[in-house]
Amino acid sequence: MANIISCKDPADLALRAADFILATGRSALQQRGQFTLVLTGGSTPKETYKLLAQPERASQLDWSKTYLFIGDERFVPADDERSNFRLAQQSLLTSPLIRSNHVLAVPTDTASAEQSAQRYAKMLHDFFPGEALPHFDLILLGLGEDGHVASLFPGAPALAVTDVWVTWSPPGTLPPPVDRITMTYPVLNAARQIAFLVAGLRKAPVVKAILQGKHNREIYPASGIQPAAGEVTWIADQASLLESRL
Ligand code: 6PG
Repeated sequence: MANIISCKDPADLALRAADFILATGRSALQQRGQFTLVLTGGSTPKETYKLLAQPERASQLDWSKTYLFIGDERFVPADDERSNFRLAQQSLLTSPLIRSNHVLAVPTDTASAEQSAQRYAKMLHDFFPGEALPHFDLILLGLGEDGHVASLFPGAPALAVTDVWVTWSPPGTLPPPVDRITMTYPVLNAARQIAFLVAGLRKAPVVKAILQGKHNREIYPASGIQPAAGEVTWIADQASLLESRL
């Protein structure tokens, strides 16, 4: 059963999510001397990232032992307004404590999303040498109102990709209509901790469907997030939880 942190509104969600990330990071650093954090894209996490960049919060983590990754990316230039990396750059990465060489962004200066996926997969294998799967300490995920997670879209071929750590996908039905690069289910489900950040009434139906266990990941890809050993926490505002009566 997933843990639920019910937040009053998006501002409360940002605060609770920032605290959750900091607590998870402190624990990882204490237990393993390193914190590997995968960022999500989309609009929901932006305020959380801004809070984390504030000195009173950023100072709570040892960023010299913290490494940041991107769970999925749009196949656009890094300075494109649709880039998830750019979202992080304009929020979390404004902190002077975060070293640019500790941020492993998806390379999109390639000929295709497929090539970007292959290059990012190699970057992850180089970071986790010899591992059958990477065990990230915390993976942040958003939730599309169509039930997608990362860039795993309903009915997409990427849902069935299990032999590589990173794959690519044509656009889903939600904007922006660009090719994507995404971590695959085996990588997401190998995480020690997963946190969904979800806000807004328009997400309520899909949140209800997933929390009720409608585990058809072809229709609701987010229901395919079932980590083997890790924990899942939903950090969601009351509007998105409204139909789940939580
Ligand atoms: C992306 C994200 C995507 C996002 C959801 C929710 O590249 O867009 O990774 O999976 O998390 O679509 O987006 P919002 O937070 O904007 O609703």
